[in-house]
Amino acid sequence: MKHLRKDEPCWCGSGKMYGECHQDWDRKITVFKKKFNVVPPRNIIKNEKTLEGMRESAKINIAVLDYVAEHIHAGITTEEIDEMVYQQTTKMGGIPAPLNYEGFPKSVCTSINDEVCHGIPSNKIQLVEGDIINVDCSTIKNGYFSDSSRMFCIGEVSESRKKLVQVAKECVELGLKQVKPWGHLGDVAQAINDHAMKNGYSVVRNVGGHGIGLEFHEDPFVSYVIKKGTGMVMAPGMTFTIEPMINEGTAEIYVDDVNDWTIYTEDGKDSAQWEIMVLVTEDGYEVMSW
Ligand code: MF3
Ligand code: CO
Repeated sequence: MKHLRKDEPCWCGSGKMYGECHQDWDRKITVFKKKFNVVPPRNIIKNEKTLEGMRESAKINIAVLDYVAEHIHAGITTEEIDEMVYQQTTKMGGIPAPLNYEGFPKSVCTSINDEVCHGIPSNKIQLVEGDIINVDCSTIKNGYFSDSSRMFCIGEVSESRKKLVQVAKECVELGLKQVKPWGHLGDVAQAINDHAMKNGYSVVRNVGGHGIGLEFHEDPFVSYVIKKGTGMVMAPGMTFTIEPMINEGTAEIYVDDVNDWTIYTEDGKDSAQWEIMVLVTEDGYEVMSW
């Protein structure tokens, strides 16, 4: 790593002098590193210009989810949800990030009941009363990414499904409370895991959250099954998603062997997920997309 003098331009691209920008940040990081903590690499730390771009992207992402929330109902096909997402996103000048992402064929993920995530919209899949569905939207605007997802209950839903959806939401809220500079990602994970376990649920292990901003999926991988005080140190300027998948039964999952995308619970029991995109600030967090 190049050693910068305090009157040289900061590595973050802010245009400010290093001494007035990330010099103190680097000193803190060095201390954590010496104690064998995993620390964020510089290339995932966002400057104000990047954050502004991400906020603009998130505005579209949130508006699209609001639109879906208003129009989703029993009888609609997931293909129609996909069309809404494509139309609304492009109308506002965005690009749906999932479309053609590593071969994903649609603009949004729609995951119903025992589908954990990455459900592919289809004109053959029609929502029926009693379903719970995750609609996972991601947007690119001017090259900046945003990503968040919500659950929707279709008509009258069973008590057990309602509870799963509610607890999954609480998990995200409790995880979010742990987001602060110089804490660890494991603090977020454990708060989520404890709450899920307390309610008799399990948390999916091998799929999780991710850094985001200039790319759809950046470092770090955000696990929800690691312990408090472990995992990457959270530092101001980091942006990542909190998106735990909460299962009613076993945490075990499998991938659809025909489409190679959709993930299901191994035991066929229900799964729920909410996703938010957060920024670690100087004194806590900013929710950028929800
Ligand atoms: N929010 C999901 C994720 O981060 C979106 C996946 S889009 C897909 O994994 F194209 F990869 F399916
Ligand atoms: Co995501």
